[in-house]
Amino acid sequence: MKHKKINPLIENRYSPRAYSREPLSEEIIESLFEAARWAASARNAQPWRFIFATPDRKETWDKLVECLTPTNQEWARDAPFLMLALVQKTDPERNSERKSALYDLGLAMGNFSFKPGIWDSICGIWAVFRPKKHAKFLPSRSCTNPW
Ligand SMILES: Cc1cc2nc3c(=O)[nH]c(=O)nc-3n(C[C@H](O)[C@H](O)[C@H](O)COP(=O)(O)O)c2cc1C
Repeated sequence: MKHKKINPLIENRYSPRAYSREPLSEEIIESLFEAARWAASARNAQPWRFIFATPDRKETWDKLVECLTPTNQEWARDAPFLMLALVQKTDPERNSERKSALYDLGLAMGNFSFKPGIWDSICGIWAVFRPKKHAKFLPSRSCTNPW
């Protein structure tokens, strides 16, 4: 069935099942984070935090791979870039809960997942991981995984 016309950015997004080890240039990586930064967030708090590695950053790369379940590890093996998305659910300055933090993170991840068309990158999002393994990554106590 032919679907209604939608924005090509949305239409071309999909969850890949295989990845190419072809390295991502710094320009592409910076551009992905820049796209995330442009996402809307309540009070412009931008409560997302990202920990990423490329395969040459072996120590962080191995830790990130360890966070994944064995099935997702299989898929991650060939990826050129891995990233852990975290969220600050409390506002450290006001000592109050950030009720919209997960919405904010979701919007930022949406921007990551678009296939921009200017290069051939595509992003998969995985919720299935091993929380205990990534606890050692958390940059501050107010920053948690979204689940
Ligand atoms: C929050 C979230 C968590 C997900 N977790 C996983 C996962 O752990 N493993 C996986 O293979 N896919 C995961 N996916 C991908 C979904 O399975 C995928 O988006 C869905 O099947 C629709 O396919 P599409 O993205 O190609 O349209 C996740 C997607 C989201 C948004």
